[in-house]
Amino acid sequence: LAQPTTEQWRPAYHFTAPRNWLNDPNGPILIDGVYHLYYQHNPFENKWGHMSWGHATSKDLLRWKHLPVAMPEEVSADTTTWMFSGSVVSDSKNTSGFGRNGKAPLVAIYTADQPKQQKETQALAYSNDGGLSFEQFKGNPVIDLNLKDFRDPNVFWHEQSGRWVMAVALPAVHKVRFYGSADLKKWELLSDFGPTGYTKHVWECPFIVPLPVDGDPKRIKWLMMVSSGGDRGPAFMQYFVGDFDGKTFKSDQPEGGVLTVDHGDTFYAAIPYRLPGRQTLIGWLMPGKTETFPWRGQMSIPRDLGLVSTAEGTRLVQRPSQVVSAVVDRLGKGNMLLYRSLSIGKRKVLSAPGRFDQNCWWLDLELDIKRFGKQGIRLAADTIKGSFVEVGYDPVSQQLYVDCTSSEKGRREERNLLQTAPLAAPDGKVKISVLFDRSSLEVFGNDGRAVISTLVFPATGANALSVFSAHAAGVVPRLRLVNMTGL
Ligand code: FRU
Repeated sequence: LAQPTTEQWRPAYHFTAPRNWLNDPNGPILIDGVYHLYYQHNPFENKWGHMSWGHATSKDLLRWKHLPVAMPEEVSADTTTWMFSGSVVSDSKNTSGFGRNGKAPLVAIYTADQPKQQKETQALAYSNDGGLSFEQFKGNPVIDLNLKDFRDPNVFWHEQSGRWVMAVALPAVHKVRFYGSADLKKWELLSDFGPTGYTKHVWECPFIVPLPVDGDPKRIKWLMMVSSGGDRGPAFMQYFVGDFDGKTFKSDQPEGGVLTVDHGDTFYAAIPYRLPGRQTLIGWLMPGKTETFPWRGQMSIPRDLGLVSTAEGTRLVQRPSQVVSAVVDRLGKGNMLLYRSLSIGKRKVLSAPGRFDQNCWWLDLELDIKRFGKQGIRLAADTIKGSFVEVGYDPVSQQLYVDCTSSEKGRREERNLLQTAPLAAPDGKVKISVLFDRSSLEVFGNDGRAVISTLVFPATGANALSVFSAHAAGVVPRLRLVNMTGL
């Protein structure tokens, strides 16, 4: 029996593979003004397996061009090698010697996973055609510890020490291991970080990046992220803020504390585009129980990262990439509703049939919770069944929240029907950006001080949208709604 398609849930402005399974982003890199995205992909089935690197490019991180598989699995009589997660660097000094005709090669540093041998090693492949195809290095593997779990190398050029640095996970023992190299081929052990923080599940996909604190280039701190399962389920990422001297990462975080990247139940395996003067994170929105077909798995909207000082210490902020929001500002103009001081009373319906009933939009909302109390938005509402998804701010608990109780019940674990993130509301004001794309929902609070990402699966016709307040004469100071269909 043919499986019914679920195109009603395919996101319009989040990345999906044209067909079949997708997981982690791999080797995100900007080359000559073009963003490349590789990704964990099963080219044959709509489930995990046959791991290969899919490939796409974009000029604005929003509209993607699909390209052929860049690194397929390798199958021989006695072994199968899957191309697990990793990074791509532009070897501009040709330190690896893989370059041809004086041009910088692209080098992929990835995990060769051999399911039959139950073994993971780090391996290289290089491209001299701009990242379309990769040739395997004859000297692979470049790091072999004879381990079953040893994966996800993230490599960058460390200017101060003049060499390549790799962060790679020892998943089972909750460690990030650092290596250094002059040529990407010979790697010297530098140090280990962990176990610390959250250690109930395996550690995967680690990376570190330098960032200015409060935008001050003289105050550089290093941010580390690690993916692992969490209390909400399999998708959880923690971060550490600290210092890196070229060899060792030292976290400022006191033992026992855990810092959360995203408070939802879907954001995972995120790694950065290392851009001039900016770090832009892209993650996988891990599917839950609900099946989609003929595609499964989507990427997050790329997020610009920042660090800010707070009373508790230095903390992460994440906003939708400025490259993406510039396109939304420009192209969204013709398909946008903009309100200032909008009187809503207790509730006002905003959706208009045909134009704003597509469950596909980008919404920026400013709330005055000091005057009007609990406020927010209801989306994907089914006016007959009475189900909806609610996104709002609760001043009593001081939390940003996404409540899917009425629409997702039975499709996910009870504890994830309501997802919350602590968020302070200085002077009683809260800003919320909601990126709702048919089945994905990314909610950013107060310029990215808190983020909640999740997946929802609205029934056909469940598409009404309204804003609400706890006050009988509620007013929303500012609201912008961009219809993202066709962008
Ligand atoms: C994370 C992960 C990585 C691994 C890849 C395999 O989702 O498990 O650790 O490299 O997926 O597809």
